Order: sequence, then C-alpha cells, then structure tokens
Amino acid sequence: MFELKGTEVNQSPPISDPVSPIESGTEPKLLLRALRGEVCARPPIWLMRQAGRYLPEYRATRKKAPSFLDFCYTPELAVQVTLQPIRRFGFDAAILFSDIMVVPHALGQKVWFEEGRGPRLDPVGSSGELGRLSMDSLNENLAPVYETVRGIRSELGPETALIGFAGAPWTVASYMVEGGGTREFAKVKTWAYGDPEGFQKLIDLLVDATTLYLESQIAAGVEVLQLFDSWAGALTAKGMRQWCLDPNAEIIRRIKVNYPGIPIILFPRGAGLMYRDIAAESGADAVAVDSTVPPAWVRDELQSRVAVQGNLDPILLVAGGEALRQSATEILETLGGGPFVFNLGSGIVPEADPEHVGELVELVQGWSA
Ligand code: CP3
Repeated sequence: MFELKGTEVNQSPPISDPVSPIESGTEPKLLLRALRGEVCARPPIWLMRQAGRYLPEYRATRKKAPSFLDFCYTPELAVQVTLQPIRRFGFDAAILFSDIMVVPHALGQKVWFEEGRGPRLDPVGSSGELGRLSMDSLNENLAPVYETVRGIRSELGPETALIGFAGAPWTVASYMVEGGGTREFAKVKTWAYGDPEGFQKLIDLLVDATTLYLESQIAAGVEVLQLFDSWAGALTAKGMRQWCLDPNAEIIRRIKVNYPGIPIILFPRGAGLMYRDIAAESGADAVAVDSTVPPAWVRDELQSRVAVQGNLDPILLVAGGEALRQSATEILETLGGGPFVFNLGSGIVPEADPEHVGELVELVQGWSA
C-alpha cells in the first residue's frame, strides 16, 4: 500500500528556489517534492478532512471523548484518527487532527460544538471587547496539539509527510465575531467596514497567534503547513486584499524567516479571479483551489508561479462511478504536467463512500504522465 511507484522527476528547474535540507533526488516524500516545484511521475494525493465521520473507525474513536474539543485535545485519540485514513488508503500525507477553532479557544474565547450545528462561540463584537483575549497562555493551552504532532511523527513511515494547519485570520475572525457559522457575514463585515482600524486589531492578534501556533507545530514535527481561508469567497476584491491576502502574506513572511524550508499551502476558498493575485503575491509555495475553478485556468494562470492543489468536487465521492473517474482524470491530465498535489476543492463530507475514496486513491496513485 505504501510502495511508491515512479518518483523520478523531469529535469525542468524548480519554479522557485526552495531551501531544503534534503537533496530532492533522495527525498522520499512526494508531497515535499511537489511543493518544491518538482513535477512528479504521478502527483501526491491527500484529501482535506480525510479523517472524519465518513469513516466508521473515526465514528468509533470519536465516542471515546465527551466533546469534540476534548477529542482534539486528547493526543492519544487525535493521533489514532490522524493515522486511520493513512492505514486504510495509503495517502501520501497525513494532516494533524485538530480544528481551526482551537486558536480562539486558546486565546480565551468560549468555544463549543453543537451536534449537527458545528462550532459555537461567545461572540466578540467590537474592538472594546478584545481585552477578553490574550496570547499569554496560547502555547500552554495548545500543548496537547503539539504532543499529538510528536505522536503522529513517531508512527509515520518515511514516505508519508505530516501537514500542520491553522485557520486564516479572516475565516477565524468570522467565527469569533458571528459566534458560529454564517451565510451573510453581516456582523463581521459591519465591524470591518464600519471600524476598519478596530477590526485590524483583531486581524493583527490573529496574525500573531497563528504564526506562533504554526511555528510551534513545526518545532513539534510538522513538515508542511496549510492555511485554511475557507470564507475568503465572502469578501469583495478590496476586502480580499485587506483581510485575506495581506494577513496571510504576513504570516507566511514571518514563518519563512525562521523556517525557510517548510512549504506553505494557502487555501483561499472561493477567491475567484483573485486567485491570480494571491498566487503571485502571498509568498505561499502552493495555492489550493476550489472546485469552481477550471483546471485549464489553474494550469495557465497559477501553475507557472506556484504549485497547485485541488480541486475535485467532494460530492463526487458520494456519487462515485463514471463521473468520479472522468473528473479525476481530467484534473490529472490538465494539472499533472506541472507541480501538483491531488486533493478536493473543499473537505470530504460525512456522506462520502469510503469505497469511492479507495478507488480515487488507486486511480491517482496508478496514473502516470
Ligand atoms: O482534514 C483533516 O482530516 C484534519 C482535521 C480538520 C477538522 N477541521 C476536523 C473536524 C481540519 C483541517 C478542520 C478545518 C476546519 N474546521 C475548517 C476549515 C476547512 C473547511 O472545511 O472549510 C473549518 C471552517 C472548521 C470549523 C468546523 N469544525 C466546522 C464548520 C465544523 C462542523 C462541520 C461538520 O462537519 O460538522 C467542525 C467540526 C469538525 N472539525 C469535524 C471534524 C472531523 C466534525 C465534528 C465531529 O466529528 O463531531
């Protein structure tokens, strides 16, 4: 299951000049090679939310913790569920099992998860309320996550990369201000438009907290980072620059000073025409694209600047069949000739069929340019 087929790279130079402690010729982790700009004989594959309720073994382990946050903060359980999809499918990367809501929680905000409703938070409504939040105990509160990272690293084989992650400032801020998920983003946008200086203080706090959190994940053993800006698509073009591109670029700039060899994937979901500016200006090694973006556009407009990741529609893992095979093959054939990581355009849904996931992994790992 873990055997790598055809990892030779072609001789074209990497697109950027990545600093790496390991010579690319001997690097066994396909994900690291692709993120350094190499064109692999077949692309690496992992899937956003690959550990989750679509897996019966996840549902069984999930019952052992009283709440979802306890689950995230119990290293023994978090290590186990991180490894489940690796053992079942042989993905090329594991992603730390945690949630983007641990940062507001570690800053002192009340966070809880309601069954079927997702995250709930005691909302922060204005810059006057930012005093309730503090970075002082951030790393102490997040220590169980770092312990999880160490536990996963000790169990992973030499060809499986470990990805750490955090929510991006805008996406995390939207939950912090709305008190949960939202369709309209009315409260957070009203604050951002009405009091941009005050709102910037929240974004700046999240830039600091996210940088510390991600650097601590690297110190514990993650080899790649992904920033999830799941709600970038709710912003105007100007807003996307101010609250998505600029803060993410600042986090990436700071991390690159201390850890230049750690590749960073930025996922500004729904960025539309702004994907081009984000690929050119964020400093990310790779940009993850959602399922609405045509693969040929991704190839022509993004892939000459950065590695790209995506973008199969996650519902194809519910439907399966010819539609799944056709769409996956089109993505492979369009993007497989450049630096590319196969993934979905957003997270796996609980209704996904594990059989379909297995078929997809086989198709991608059996493909060659
Ligand atoms: O990808 C992985 O396997 C790693 C784990 C991971 C989770 N959440 C576990 C989780 C990751 C990377 C996340 C990221 C995350 N969390 C995002 C960004 C990516 C995206 O999907 O847009 C967001 C917006 C959140 C916030 C969040 N957490 C929501 C909206 C929900 C509820 C949605 C749902 O499916 O119920 C969660 C809960 C959550 N996080 C679950 C999992 C496996 C399901 C809860 C459970 O098992 O009871």
